[in-house]
This record gives sequence, structure tokens and C-alpha cells, in this order.
Amino acid sequence: MHETNVLTLALQLSKKAGDLIAKQRSSLSVSFKAGVELVTQADVAADKLITEGILKSYPDHVILSEELNPDQLTDAEHLWIIDPIDGTVNFAHQHPQVAISIAYYHKGKARVAVVYNPFLDETFHARAGRGARLNDLPIRCADKTELSRALIATGFPYVREDLPLLMRRLEAVLNHCADIRRIGSAALDICWVACGRLDGYYESVQPWDFAAAQLIAREAGAVFGHIDQLDQEINPELCGDNLVIASPKIFPLLQSILRQVDH
Ligand code: IPD
Ligand code: CA
Ligand code: CA
Repeated sequence: MHETNVLTLALQLSKKAGDLIAKQRSSLSVSFKAGVELVTQADVAADKLITEGILKSYPDHVILSEELNPDQLTDAEHLWIIDPIDGTVNFAHQHPQVAISIAYYHKGKARVAVVYNPFLDETFHARAGRGARLNDLPIRCADKTELSRALIATGFPYVREDLPLLMRRLEAVLNHCADIRRIGSAALDICWVACGRLDGYYESVQPWDFAAAQLIAREAGAVFGHIDQLDQEINPELCGDNLVIASPKIFPLLQSILRQVDH
């Protein structure tokens, strides 16, 4: 199996899913998972399109996807991780910050990543060891040195039980950076760190939110990590708890501010 074929398939499927969700946006039927998390028929249809497309070419590969296979175990040799629409709330409100995220992992490590925004026609992609690209042009993260000049993105979960901690973190970061953005798509937040539109990002998310974008960010020179040291047995590339992703000089400054906040 060649990674170039995996990348070609991921790019094709992301475009097809993008066309599908763009068509469905004018007649959306919206529902709420667990009463709070917005989901549309387009999320499920895009998940189906991508999942079937992968299994047609690679019937023995395992797929972890937000809508159809969210409980799939992640220790498979060949694992695809899909968010069919990242930024569903934006999508349902006609905001353009929406992405289709597709990652291919081999033995627990990200090898191929595609994050496609059909509304801005921007495709981010990366292969391990081969750099990251936006619409086929190489990208690098920003080289800012001062946190006080840095633009930092974050997000908030649908279930608000950790809100006091999240507010303490927000206050601490806002006190030290230039400004904060809550744009509404974790995958794009991370890709925007990769291309220098943002200097850093922190949040707790699910594997499908960051699996592709973290490879794109690392291949663009950004640092990927977590607020606290992870236990040895945890695979950092599949752990979305307390993520921090930032350009190299900003990363330790942002991580240190977040570490000082009481848990
Ligand atoms: C959400 C977005 C958002 C993040 C949430 C995610 P969804 O994904 O990435 O930016 O703050 O935690 O759940 O629901 O739009 O796929
Ligand atoms: Ca998501
Ligand atoms: Ca989603």
C-alpha cells in the first residue's frame, strides 16, 4: 500500500464530501445528540460517503468516525480517523469556517492528513516527513517570539461541566496574549496555526477533531503537545485531552501559563 494512493483517495473523498455538504446546506434538518450537540443529516451523509469510499479501496482497514463509528478501538495497524464535518455549528449557521478532516494512521502514528474547507476552497494536507501544504503550496507556522503579540485560538465543549476550569484558563491566557479567537472548528484552528494565521491553540477535543490537523501542524514546524505530561502508555497522537499546539517559541510560554492554572 502506497501512501501516495492513500493521500489521493483522502483528497478525492474530502472534495466529494465537500460538494455533498455544500449542496445540502440550503435544506438542513438539524437534531441534537444527547440533547446538546448539534448534528445535521449532512454530517451523517458525508461520514457514509467517506467511510464507504475508504472501505471500497481498503476493505481490511479500520475506521474511527464521529457519526458512524465513534466507539471504534484505535489500536488497529491501519486506522482512518474521520470528522465528516468539523464546525457543524458554523455549518448550520451558514458560517464558512467548516472542514472535512481525514487522517490515516499506521501503527498509531499519523502518516497522511487532509483538512478541506469547501466554503473557502482551502485544502490543507500533509504526509509524515514531507511537509505540509495549503492548496499545494508549502506552509510554515509563524515565528513570533512574544506571547504578548500572539493570537491564540481555543474552543469550548458542548457539555459545560468543566466551565470554571475553562474560564480560569481563558482568563490566564487572555491576560498574557494579544487576543483570543473561538472560531468553531478545531481542525481549522490547528491548520491555521500551521499556516501562521494563528500563533497557538489549546482545547480538549476528540481524536477526529485533531488527528489530521496535528500532522499538518507538526509538518509545518509547529509543536504539538499537552498541558500536562502524559502517562507513558498513552499515545499522544490519539489523546485529545488538554491539547496545546503552537509555533516553537510560543509553545513553552503558552503551555507554562496553562500549567499554572489550578485544576
Ligand atoms: C467541534 C469543533 C469545535 C470544538 C468542539 C468540537 P464538531 O466539532 O471542532 O471547534 O470546540 O469541541 O466538538 O462538533 O463541529 O465536529
Ligand atoms: Ca469535530
Ligand atoms: Ca463533526
